[in-house]
Amino acid sequence: MADKLVAGNWKMHGSLAANAALLGGLASAGELGVSCAVCVPYPYLAQARQCLEAASIVLGAQDVSEFAAGAYTGEVSGAMLAEFGCRYAIVGHSERRALFGEDDATVGRKAAAALAAELVPIVCVGETLAERDAGATLAVIRRQLDAVAAVLGGAALARVVLAYEPVWAIGTGRSATPVQVGEVHGAIRAWLGERCAQAAAVPILYGGSVKPDNAAELFAVKDVDGGLVGGASLVAEDFLAICRAA
Ligand code: G3P
Repeated sequence: MADKLVAGNWKMHGSLAANAALLGGLASAGELGVSCAVCVPYPYLAQARQCLEAASIVLGAQDVSEFAAGAYTGEVSGAMLAEFGCRYAIVGHSERRALFGEDDATVGRKAAAALAAELVPIVCVGETLAERDAGATLAVIRRQLDAVAAVLGGAALARVVLAYEPVWAIGTGRSATPVQVGEVHGAIRAWLGERCAQAAAVPILYGGSVKPDNAAELFAVKDVDGGLVGGASLVAEDFLAICRAA
């Protein structure tokens, strides 16, 4: 069975002052009984690292360059993130795909770059509402996953975290139902089983309007190994409640 993990994705939110309050709240929580991470904007990695030094919550980034080093203005490499104490890097978030033109192959290369820097990529997949309405959900997820496997190969899948984030559930307050989540997570587990001997140990997170009041129900679904949390990760007590529900 995969270890449970709850990761907060702050997206482009925060300030030194607001972070200090949020991180202070997280740091004072004590043992949470589950693996927890916060994926903060790059400029705040050092602050988060310092504030969470004594806490059991680890750090992640929200993206990583597909390149190791060089003349790539604006990019941040996996090695840089590792140097700042990151354990995780989100890749292929739907906002990166939709707003910044990242295609499936790029996501695969970013996952490989994260692994090369000894980071754990949190690889996001998910369908739009139009794709779900067209009955294409599982085909879309498979296409996104296949592109990652094409770059990584099957064995390396044992070193990633996957996150199912239906695009229509992100930031909308409308989470997928447990039945919908179970169907997709089951399909992802089966897809892993066709490629990787450690399929059962690969965490598959659910993301999309996870809140304190629905977390326990979502995390109880078979093949759900935790959550990737956006809005609710910006409020310490909400994020901690979600972590405790895992
Ligand atoms: O990566 C987390 C995310 O996209 C979900 O956001 O605000 O719906 O929890 P939210």
